[in-house]
Amino acid sequence: MSRLSKTDVVSIDDLSLPEIERVFTLADEFADALARGDTLSIANGLIMATLFYEPSTRTRLSFESAMHRLGGSVISSADMKASSAAKGESLADTVRIVSGYADLIVLRHPHDGAARVAAEYAPCPVLNAGDGSREHPTQTLCDLFILRRKKGKLKGLTVALCGDLKFGRTVHSLIYALARFGANIVAVPTSGMDVPNYVLERLAAERNYSFSTVTMDELKSLAGGLDALYLTPNAPHQMALFTGDLGLDKAPAGEAPASLDAFYVTRLQKERLGGEIKPGDYVRFDARALKTHRTQEAVVMHPLPRTDELAYELDSDPRAVYFEQAAVGVPVRMALIAWLIEQNRKKRASARDSSGLIRFKTEPFPRCVNSNCVTRFEGAHLRPRFRLARTVDRASLPLRCDYCERELRIEFVGHARSHRYYKYDESLYGYVRQWIEEQSLAVFETVKQAEESGYEPYRRGPQREVMNSAEIADAVNSLASQIAADIPDLTNVSIFGVVSHGAVLATRVRDVLDARIGIHAPCAAIDVYGSGEAIHLLDGASSLSVEGRTIIIVDDVINSGWTIQRAMTMIWQHGRPASVKLAVLIDRGHLAVPIRPNYVGKNIPTAPSERVQVRLAPPGTNGKHKTHDRATIYSMLEAAKAPEQAK
Ligand code: NCD
Repeated sequence: MSRLSKTDVVSIDDLSLPEIERVFTLADEFADALARGDTLSIANGLIMATLFYEPSTRTRLSFESAMHRLGGSVISSADMKASSAAKGESLADTVRIVSGYADLIVLRHPHDGAARVAAEYAPCPVLNAGDGSREHPTQTLCDLFILRRKKGKLKGLTVALCGDLKFGRTVHSLIYALARFGANIVAVPTSGMDVPNYVLERLAAERNYSFSTVTMDELKSLAGGLDALYLTPNAPHQMALFTGDLGLDKAPAGEAPASLDAFYVTRLQKERLGGEIKPGDYVRFDARALKTHRTQEAVVMHPLPRTDELAYELDSDPRAVYFEQAAVGVPVRMALIAWLIEQNRKKRASARDSSGLIRFKTEPFPRCVNSNCVTRFEGAHLRPRFRLARTVDRASLPLRCDYCERELRIEFVGHARSHRYYKYDESLYGYVRQWIEEQSLAVFETVKQAEESGYEPYRRGPQREVMNSAEIADAVNSLASQIAADIPDLTNVSIFGVVSHGAVLATRVRDVLDARIGIHAPCAAIDVYGSGEAIHLLDGASSLSVEGRTIIIVDDVINSGWTIQRAMTMIWQHGRPASVKLAVLIDRGHLAVPIRPNYVGKNIPTAPSERVQVRLAPPGTNGKHKTHDRATIYSMLEAAKAPEQAK
């Protein structure tokens, strides 16, 4: 049992402004105590665990030093590769175990939202030392502390944030805090590395705050002393900052002269780029930037480590405060721990607002769009959780992941009791709110997912047959012929059918190939939207490998291509195939992703509001194809009027 009461710092917004001020007061006292060489015993008997799933020098060592300086002790798993995480233990389990050994957990983790998960599962307090590209609140405490020490205040300061503002978690926490303290922000992102939308929207929604963005070139003109800088005019009070007619000397009476108080330079977060292209022209910040009359008073900050973006020549300049910024990590983190101990004596209201949370009761559970979201890694115990996003959108329902805050746009919604699904439009918004309250909202990425989950369209127009059973049999034969002509060596082929019709077609195509060429290709079903085993072997296959094989994915209808894209991602998780081919019974030709089928049974151009439905006799009923198989087309009528089933 922790000897500290449960107070987590996952986001910088978990601390109120008076609480941050209290931490600063304590930090000042501890800085003095350290300077005097005092021995402290505030944390006597307390144990802090540092769990670092990512590299760290400053954050971990300054936390550990802070705890030792306060008279407490530290246990650490600095290299989580040497812990049970390497054996596949979930974060939720790890923090529950570690809570039995320590009074407080400091966590750094590569996944967005990981600190939120840890805070929810650990009975002891959790301090976020960086979770993916989201937040790094204790770095922000150091940043604000040094800014206040150098500038005497935070309100009204103007801070330029430079470099990787997209993945830089220190930047995100700092932005939230500067907004609350009433400082001005000028964003100077490297091209393509802008402050993400979810951060901007949170600022707008919770603080009614926005800021300007300037390009690297504009920053260079500023460094050169030119007056012509164009700022995006969404923050008129900042327009005056760099425009020629409002120079430092000519500031109107009563207004503060326009100048920059700090540059906050950051390195490119290379480890988070994933498949993204590395930006070519990254900021290189040197002494020239401090030469203009508007920047000569500015301090230069950096959370460190630096790579090439910050010139070493600045180190001896008194305005370069980054080493001091790192050094105050000890008194500031001492202050945070001491503040946590103080919380023991108070009853604290829960900082998290759980109203408006959308919890999904029935499968399928929606998946967060962010491939680095912690919900993608924790396993089935962690149910995705969303809130309605603020964005107004007529054609899709915007949901925000409660762990990583990324936005998901839903095109198909369902009512869990009537088992009807609807193409979303704004006329459904009121119903959706009601279904959220009743916990009967279901959401789908595609029509296929809705129908595989047993939902029927709310209303459909008249049906028309587009393929009968003979035509379907011909198309299957044609697919087999196309495959045989294209792939000379069928011994290296594995066939994956997308559940459920794709899987039926996969075995049919395999059987035709077997009958003609005598090669019985291993066959598996891939369950793209299911929650259980994603891939299972189909009859006759004893084992199936992906590595180095030619994979043929088979599906009934290709429309947007999203389903196939997901199937491909799932297959790649099992190994690297030599190549991947796609066979579809019907190509509708509305691809939203750059995937083209290699083998097509029939092209049927359709309108987006139409639905092609395939019915196939289940496997093992060979002789009965004729009566069962058919493909029909109908139009999905939009839910323009009140959906009756939901009433
Ligand atoms: C930062 C981090 O880990 O996010 N480092 C730190 O804690 N001082 C910044 C970075 O790694 O670039």
